[in-house]
Amino acid sequence: MRRGSIVALLGLALIAGGVATAVALVPTWLPEDASQEAGRIAFTFWFVIAICIFIFAIVAAVMVYAVLRFRVQEDDFEDGPPIHGHTGLEITWTIIPFILVTSIAIVSAIVLSRNDAQAKDTLRVDVTAQQFTFTFSYPDAGNVTSPVLMLPKGRSVELYMRSLDVIHSVFVPQFSQKEDVVPGLVTQLHITPTRLGTFPLECTELCGLGHSLMRSQAVVMEPAAFDSWLKKQGKTAAPPSSTTTSTTSTTTTTSPSAAGLSVFNANGCSSCHTLSAANATGKVGPDLDNLVAYAKKANQPLEAFVHDSIVDPNAYIQPGYQKNVMPGTFGQSLTKSQLDALVAFLVQSAQQSGNK
Ligand code: CUA
Repeated sequence: MRRGSIVALLGLALIAGGVATAVALVPTWLPEDASQEAGRIAFTFWFVIAICIFIFAIVAAVMVYAVLRFRVQEDDFEDGPPIHGHTGLEITWTIIPFILVTSIAIVSAIVLSRNDAQAKDTLRVDVTAQQFTFTFSYPDAGNVTSPVLMLPKGRSVELYMRSLDVIHSVFVPQFSQKEDVVPGLVTQLHITPTRLGTFPLECTELCGLGHSLMRSQAVVMEPAAFDSWLKKQGKTAAPPSSTTTSTTSTTTTTSPSAAGLSVFNANGCSSCHTLSAANATGKVGPDLDNLVAYAKKANQPLEAFVHDSIVDPNAYIQPGYQKNVMPGTFGQSLTKSQLDALVAFLVQSAQQSGNK
C-alpha cells in the first residue's frame, strides 16, 4: 500500500470521525443526570458511542476512498480481478469487533450489578400504579402516602412496584431507568438521587385512554427536609390511611369527610377528576363539583348515584365522556368503610358546592 493512500485514508477517517463526534456532542441528547445509576448508564452510553464513532470513521474512510480512487472509466466493461478471501484481513475484522463487543458486555454487566446494589440504609418506597395514577407509600414511616415520589438526596432508594389493573411503566428521564409495573408481580427499581429538583415521572406503557395523563413527579429533597416532610405527613395522615392494596381496614376515628378525603387522595381520584373540596383539578373524568346536576340528569338520589358510579362506573356515563375509562375495580379494592367514607365525602362536598 502506498504511503499516499494511507495518508488519504487517515485524513478521510479524521473528517468522518470529527463529523460524527460533533453530531454526538453538540446537540443535548440526554437530560442531565440526577442519580448515581443514571451517571453509570450515561458512561456506558458514551463508551458505546465512542466505539461506534471509531468503527464509523474506518468504514466511511474506506468507502469514500474506494468510490473516489477505484471508480471505473466510462468505457471499462472488464470484470474485476477474482479475489478469494484474505485470511489476515478476516482474522483482523473478527478479532477487533470481538474485543469491542466483549468490552461493552463487561462494562454493562458491571454497571447493572452496581446499579442494583442497595446500601445498608436503603429507603423502601411502595409504588402502586393503577389507571391512571401512581401512589407512593413509605412503609417504614407508618405508611405515609403521597401522589408524588418524594426522595432524599444521596440515599439509596428501592421502589417496590405493584399494579392494580394493567401493565404500567415507571420512567423518570433524569434517573435513566425504566421499569414495567405488572399485575401479579412486584417489580423493583433502585435509585440513588444525586441532584435536588423536581423531575417528571411518567407512565411509559400504553395503559388505556388516560395513559398520556398518567404523570406524576419525583421530588429530590435534602435528607433533613425529607425527614421533616415524612414526620409532618405521618402526623396529618390520621390513622395510617390504608392503601388500596390492604384488605382489612379498621374503622377510622376521624370525621367522615377527612376519612373520605384521604380515600379520595390515596386512590388517585384527583388525577382524573376536578373537586374543589380536595383541590383536585383532573380533566379526564367528569367534574365532581357538578355531582348534584349529574344525579338529577341520571334520575337517581344523589347518594345512590355516587355509590353506583364508583362501584360500577359504566352504569351511567355523563354525556361527553366514554365508557371503560374509569377502572371498575374500586368495588373490590375499597373496603366497605373506605367506600362509605368516600361516598359521604363526595355527597357532602357536592351539596356544599351546589349551595354556593
Ligand atoms: Cu399507566 Cu400508561
